[in-house]
Amino acid sequence: MADPLRIALAGLGTVGGGVIRLIESNGALIARRAGRPLEIVAVCARDRAKDRGVDLSRYAWEDDMTLLAERPDVDVVVELVGGADGPALALARRALGAGKGLVTANKAMIAHHGMELAELAEAEGAPLKFEAAVAGGVPVIKGLREGAAANVISRIYGILNGTCNYILSTMERTGRDFADVLAEAQALGYAEADPSFDIEGIDAAHKLAILAAIAFGSRLDFGAMHIAGISRIRAADIAQAAALGYVIRLIGIAETEGGETEGADGEAGGTGRLHQRVQPCLVPRAHPLAAVDGATNAVVAEGNFVGRLLFQGAGAGDGPTASAVVADLIDIARGDTGAPFSVPVAQLDTLDPADPGHRLGRAYMRLTVADRPGVLAEITAAMRDAGVSIESLIQQGRPEEGGEVLVAIVTHGGPERHVAAALKLLEGSASLAEPPLVMPLLG
Ligand SMILES: NC(=O)c1ccc[n+]([C@@H]2O[C@H](COP(=O)([O-])OP(=O)(O)OC[C@H]3O[C@@H](n4cnc5c(N)ncnc54)[C@H](OP(=O)(O)O)[C@@H]3O)[C@@H](O)[C@H]2O)c1
Repeated sequence: MADPLRIALAGLGTVGGGVIRLIESNGALIARRAGRPLEIVAVCARDRAKDRGVDLSRYAWEDDMTLLAERPDVDVVVELVGGADGPALALARRALGAGKGLVTANKAMIAHHGMELAELAEAEGAPLKFEAAVAGGVPVIKGLREGAAANVISRIYGILNGTCNYILSTMERTGRDFADVLAEAQALGYAEADPSFDIEGIDAAHKLAILAAIAFGSRLDFGAMHIAGISRIRAADIAQAAALGYVIRLIGIAETEGGETEGADGEAGGTGRLHQRVQPCLVPRAHPLAAVDGATNAVVAEGNFVGRLLFQGAGAGDGPTASAVVADLIDIARGDTGAPFSVPVAQLDTLDPADPGHRLGRAYMRLTVADRPGVLAEITAAMRDAGVSIESLIQQGRPEEGGEVLVAIVTHGGPERHVAAALKLLEGSASLAEPPLVMPLLG
């Protein structure tokens, strides 16, 4: 058998520990499939004394993780530390700059610095792989780069954050409110002590930006992403959605303009612009994403020859994430050093961001209004004046605390800029107790 692929592991937490356990437990099978063994030679974490439930005595230890990149006995550095910048980025630059392969699960770093790192990898002829950065154990990057490589992808969308999905599906099952379920998720370890990256949609946006670059062969553009999280969703929205035949999910969606959109001139047709957004959406109960519960991730890709592909599985956890990391290592052991984003960086398209106002669709709007005469007339007049056609309007019978009532509106299909114009007309109205919540209907 060929020489082993020699690995340095930075980060021995949830994922790093999983990688060691996976290589130890499936080493013989992996060696057969890779054509050579995977051998961890050196490791690094902050605290050398911490008990990690794995035997580290056979590996060299580095106190400074960037030194892993300098070791002559290392072929590939695995970065499992996290953080968009700081030590993880320093290590990544140093490893690739030294011509070593880099495998990472770090979506924040790839979303912000993926182009720079891919250029460096290409210049050095070094492999850069990040399957675990998107949807944990689900091989969606591989699926796009390899399985669907022959297709024009028109749209890619999915559930990319397990914490949000756990919270939303628990709210749906139990009828409880957001803050209550979030606190429970934190107590159970499903949500971080500071959950803002997850619940405000940033983590999902990191993953979506990576997927979009691969799916559309375009330069990664995290700054163009429109992001809204789930913290404003109430039990009443979930109940209202259920009554209409929908569930609420945080959906990341990237599509080229011309699909469910108008062209920039207001006419139907493609423009080569890209929509990228993460926001809660109403998903019809019959849609495959509606059945995705708990911490599961799922991604749908629509290709012009393959049709609709659904990738689904565990989006986090030591085992699933380690599975994706080690799959990347097996690829490298086999000699796969292809362009990290499928196409060399210099050949990636630069797609301008599309104006979200051109997107066509139906929307759910929740307005919290004062319980007094004339309010509904004011709202419907704003919709009429902005060109929004109302499909249904439901005012909940009983006033909430403070004499406020919830009004839920579902619109007929139309450009989103009409809905935005209606909200503009209502802005500052004394009838509204808080800014309206708007969620598109997926479909
Ligand atoms: N957890 C998941 O399910 C999951 C899923 C997909 C992707 N990811 C990504 O995988 C990466 C790792 O996540 P994780 O959950 O395994 O994190 P984690 O459990 O917090 O582990 C991080 C590790 O990095 C080490 N570390 C932190 N700063 C360091 C420094 N300056 N020098 C040396 N070591 C340092 C820590 O050392 P100590 O142990 O000594 O503190 C720890 O071993 C992140 O990018 C994350 O986004 C995680």
